[in-house]
Amino acid sequence: MRHIIDFNDMTMDEWNSLYSLCREIMANPMDFRDELRGKTMASLFFEPSTRTNFSFQTAMLKLGGGVFGFSDPQFSSVSKGETIKDTVIMCSSYADVIVMRTPWEGSAKAASLYSQCPVINAGDGGHLHPTQTLADLTTITELRGSASNLNIGLCGDLKNGRTVHSLIKALSRFENVSFFLISPRELAIPSYVRSFMNENGQKYVEVSNLESTMPQLDVLYMTRIQRERFSDPAEYERHRHAYILNAQKMKLARKDMIVMHPLPRVDEISQDVDGDPRAAYFKQAEYGLYIRMALLLSVTRDGKGLPEFVAPEVRPHACHNPRCITATNPYLPIINKQENGTVCCGYCDKEI
Ligand code: CP
Repeated sequence: MRHIIDFNDMTMDEWNSLYSLCREIMANPMDFRDELRGKTMASLFFEPSTRTNFSFQTAMLKLGGGVFGFSDPQFSSVSKGETIKDTVIMCSSYADVIVMRTPWEGSAKAASLYSQCPVINAGDGGHLHPTQTLADLTTITELRGSASNLNIGLCGDLKNGRTVHSLIKALSRFENVSFFLISPRELAIPSYVRSFMNENGQKYVEVSNLESTMPQLDVLYMTRIQRERFSDPAEYERHRHAYILNAQKMKLARKDMIVMHPLPRVDEISQDVDGDPRAAYFKQAEYGLYIRMALLLSVTRDGKGLPEFVAPEVRPHACHNPRCITATNPYLPIINKQENGTVCCGYCDKEI
């Protein structure tokens, strides 16, 4: 039984097989219309979503399967105080795969401890978003031929942008990738991501100016300033217009640069960029459907299994991240890991 918590849960051979399957699906989608008949997906969205939620649901329906779940936790017993653990135990007894998005970092990892079926992380707070990474890698590979030998600019809210964290980790597996991390200092990548890049010998520079960086890029990956992750609204207001890509600035870019964005956008990409042939963000969301079809086929192949019983903790968790799933679910087993000689939380990856 496979859970997809982080892109790096996959080997490169598995990624290459998944991408090949995605290409087969894109070429002949009707050949797959009955592949998951009789199987059911639980779609547990504790946070708003358009692309991830609807593309997963569409993917399951196009494969002949069924879907149940919620996109507003007010319509589940979570609103009565039910824990993630109990919700997952129940839903996994009904479903063949769980797709889950929450605001709590490390929640997909926590769910995987109790689930009878594969858990797919559809975004856990500001932590990771591995299936967006699958869509991103599919887009880069389809439009450029390869994700290796790449100058990629990641621009915007790199602190809270989970898609950026997942993509950086995933691109550590490809040859000769250089990162230009473009953000205000206050919204720079978290230290655990920087430690990961250092540990893996990734090439990167941290800069604040978009215009001077653009001419060097093969891919510009814009991100939204994530209002919902700011505890201080004034801080959000200070940064919300930090970067705005428009048609005028696109003149600074190479003719073959592609502009990506996980979406939703607010105003960080002006409407006048949409008609530029280098704007790839809507195509990127469409590729997300096909790669998620491939993923659902792949993870449901092995069937279900009972998880091992996990005894509740009696000691407090050492993780001090207030957004970590352990902050509100103290019964979770303590899982720590070593990253570059530092002890990190095994759920949210933050240093302890
Ligand atoms: N890219 C992405 O995760 O979009 P949604 O929030 O609409 O799912």
